[in-house]
Amino acid sequence: MKTIFSGIQPSGILTLGNYLGAMKHFVPLQDQFNCFYCIVDQHAITVPQEPAVLRENIRRLAALYLSVGLDPNKMTLFVQSEVPAHAKLGWIMLCTSYLGELERMTQFKDKSDGRGESIPGGLLAYPPLMAADILLYGTDFVPVGEDQKQHLELTRDLAARFNNRYGDIFTIPEVRLPETGARIMSLAEGTKKMSKSDPNQGAFISMLDDADTITKKIKRAQTDSDSVVRYDKAEKPAVSNLMTIYSLCSGKSLEEIEAMYEGKGYGAFKTELAEVVVETLRPIQERFEQLFHSSELDDILTAGAEKANKVANEMLYKVEKVMGMARL
Ligand code: AMP
Ligand code: TRP
Repeated sequence: MKTIFSGIQPSGILTLGNYLGAMKHFVPLQDQFNCFYCIVDQHAITVPQEPAVLRENIRRLAALYLSVGLDPNKMTLFVQSEVPAHAKLGWIMLCTSYLGELERMTQFKDKSDGRGESIPGGLLAYPPLMAADILLYGTDFVPVGEDQKQHLELTRDLAARFNNRYGDIFTIPEVRLPETGARIMSLAEGTKKMSKSDPNQGAFISMLDDADTITKKIKRAQTDSDSVVRYDKAEKPAVSNLMTIYSLCSGKSLEEIEAMYEGKGYGAFKTELAEVVVETLRPIQERFEQLFHSSELDDILTAGAEKANKVANEMLYKVEKVMGMARL
């Protein structure tokens, strides 16, 4: 059976972009693959985190993974820092990387922009740690949104470089982007990615926003200057983004949506879009409420870490052995 690995940072409440671009696609995969889903807290601390907030975000993310329909009997869910092999292989992957290739990463450039001399070293070391996450499990496929494609290419380069030097240790993983929704855009700016760390709360819908908030945010969302509901990414990025959200939440095609709102303008479209989003998130939020405070959640994470440790330690031992570090 092929192996899947993916991770999400506990750095805020997940957005509708995270759900439609990543999490939603994790669910059907658990029936066909050996899946590892990770709460990457060590990636989150590459920028400063408030301890109490981080602790809450880790738990929230764990509960959300399960609320969307991931089943602990079918996949492995765990917290990265509870599996020390990630940090150890992360160091080895950092030593396998070149400074030039790390400095070229778009996410590094974006996140370090404006920080002058105080760019946290962890931002640079972030992709090698991500490579370690993936390579520890002999991963075949990595389902992520488009923003992670460059990190995946680096992971493949690092794995190949290591294999070239030490023999065939790592499986070279492939990226799996969703056909639509790989990049859900900000509600405030149709050309910018929807992000949970956007200071403008109106720019994103959180997976835990209540119905009122969702409706207000959608009503205020940017549209384009004519008032035609038509999909055209280049000319009408804002409306095209809203249509993508509509389509992914309702299962209706873009053509069906265009036909439904022909001659009706944005008002009716936005009202119904809000309803569709609210109905998509409602069952997830209901399960979330039950899980968040339950001890079941702790049991699932404990069992997940145990299983992940077992698989990861085997790979780490292999790696350290070929490098001359493990005593024979
Ligand atoms: P992050 O929130 O950066 O940890 O991302 C978690 C997952 O969500 C990754 O697979 C991202 O590619 C995906 N993701 C984040 N933002 C978006 C977005 N606006 N549209 C689609 N996918 C996204
Ligand atoms: N870098 C990813 C993000 O910001 C999160 C991540 C960390 C990840 N390790 C991973 C995703 C391994 C897939 C596989 O979204």
